[in-house]
Amino acid sequence: MTTTALFEQLEAEARAGLPAHVAGYVAATAGAGQCHAEGLRDWAAARLVPRVLQGVSRTDEQLAATTVLGTPLRTPVLLAPMAQQVAAHPRGEAEAARAVAAAGSLLGVSTNTAVPFDAVAQAGAPWWYQVYVLRDRSLTGLLVDRAAAAGASALVLTVDTTALTQVDPAAASIEPTAWPPGPGRERLTALTGADLADRDAGAATPALDVDLATIGWLAERTGLPVVVKGVLHPDDARACAQAGAAGVVVSTHGGRRLGESVTSAAALPGVVAAVRSVDPAVEVYADSGVRSGAAVAWALAQGARAVFVGRPAWWGLAARGADGVAAVLDALTAELVTTLRQCGDVRA
Ligand code: FNR
Repeated sequence: MTTTALFEQLEAEARAGLPAHVAGYVAATAGAGQCHAEGLRDWAAARLVPRVLQGVSRTDEQLAATTVLGTPLRTPVLLAPMAQQVAAHPRGEAEAARAVAAAGSLLGVSTNTAVPFDAVAQAGAPWWYQVYVLRDRSLTGLLVDRAAAAGASALVLTVDTTALTQVDPAAASIEPTAWPPGPGRERLTALTGADLADRDAGAATPALDVDLATIGWLAERTGLPVVVKGVLHPDDARACAQAGAAGVVVSTHGGRRLGESVTSAAALPGVVAAVRSVDPAVEVYADSGVRSGAAVAWALAQGARAVFVGRPAWWGLAARGADGVAAVLDALTAELVTTLRQCGDVRA
């Protein structure tokens, strides 16, 4: 079965068991959906120039293996940070992490998780904590401290969520029974251990003053490498590298932020060149519409270190729990290996 057919099947299975408003939230796109549709199209249109006479003796495991920020992985296909996975499965991110551990991959854990960090960490998979800086920075400080103490090996600072899009009101209207509170008081109290009764109502809303200095603040506070997610312009990528970022994720947030945005596939080569002009050790990752092993190979050929996959894994988790997430990661990795066997070492 191709990855395309598998992903369609998992989505159909998931939709059959999910309330329509939850499925609608996962599938949501910004604007008229142009960025999402064009992202899928651009990744699918990626073409490779096969290399020959390089020897084909490497094992599947050797072909797929990589490292991200020094962490050895068995695949460059990583699980994107996505909110509220308890709406897909009762154990949420902790269930997804089991599949990630089995696949030898890595997962991002969203600020909008409802699962305690220790439960995620218990699965044994490497994980990065995704940060939305909150208006009350001391809360963000507590969250990143806790994530670091629980074993997160990097922070992913998402910087593309600067305005409410039509995606967000949909999430806000989801009933609490099907959807535990987002960045609300109960969840933050549980995750930070702080008494929030004395904070004002805006404390847990997104901060308005996130800038390049935030990268250094997070890195110094936790001692963890900081990856900036949602970078599309080469100048921004260069500035992130100069400000001390360990990596950047070329991402349109799955086409959920700006309908008229350039796609991540189109932006990737320019970002790689910009980052390398500052420091070739800074890693570049990509996501938003990656759906095939050939697309993963193309990203690697452009200089990406790894890719993240989003919605197919969310549907997989909802449809079949850890088995569904594993199916997504394994299918993309298997296709990648076949592609690399045919193409030689494409890594730039
Ligand atoms: C996301 N994404 C996301 N990103 C982030 O930094 N923090 C978050 O909390 C979320 N939440 C979230 C929820 C859902 C339901 C989706 C679909 C996506 C974006 C995610 O990390 C990733 O960038 C995209 O999902 C990648 O695109 P594809 O693979 O879904 O097309």
